[in-house]
Amino acid sequence: MNNTNSRRYFLKTAATFVGAAFFGLWGAMIHTQRKSKKKEVVRVSLNGNRKVLFHEDCIIINKDEPVVLSSHCTHLGCRIQTFENGQLICPCHGSAFDLEGNPLKGPAITQLKKLDFTLNKQTQTITIKI
Ligand code: FES
Repeated sequence: MNNTNSRRYFLKTAATFVGAAFFGLWGAMIHTQRKSKKKEVVRVSLNGNRKVLFHEDCIIINKDEPVVLSSHCTHLGCRIQTFENGQLICPCHGSAFDLEGNPLKGPAITQLKKLDFTLNKQTQTITIKI
């Protein structure tokens, strides 16, 4: 091996190690960030006049037996904040869901996640763990 080939080999090897270290650290950082996201408790007052209530990470369907859905679209995670013609509409690519979270129109093909909650009928307050 001459000097040029030796230097080239060294640079390729060094670049491979630096790249592997970078992607390893990146993966570890993403994993730590996901793990550290705490469960959040949200309390929302039910407004008897509104059928659909949007809160940051959830959508509350206000009916006799309320339903709480994640507001994050199952396609690519955009936040759903629109209720039109009886459908929840994602602003990013136009997916539509019914009030049970079932997809009516793609590109999303899976149901919005249903969230656990408790309802205090006296105070008409709903508590959600997100
Ligand atoms: S993120 Fe909702 S349709 Fe794409």
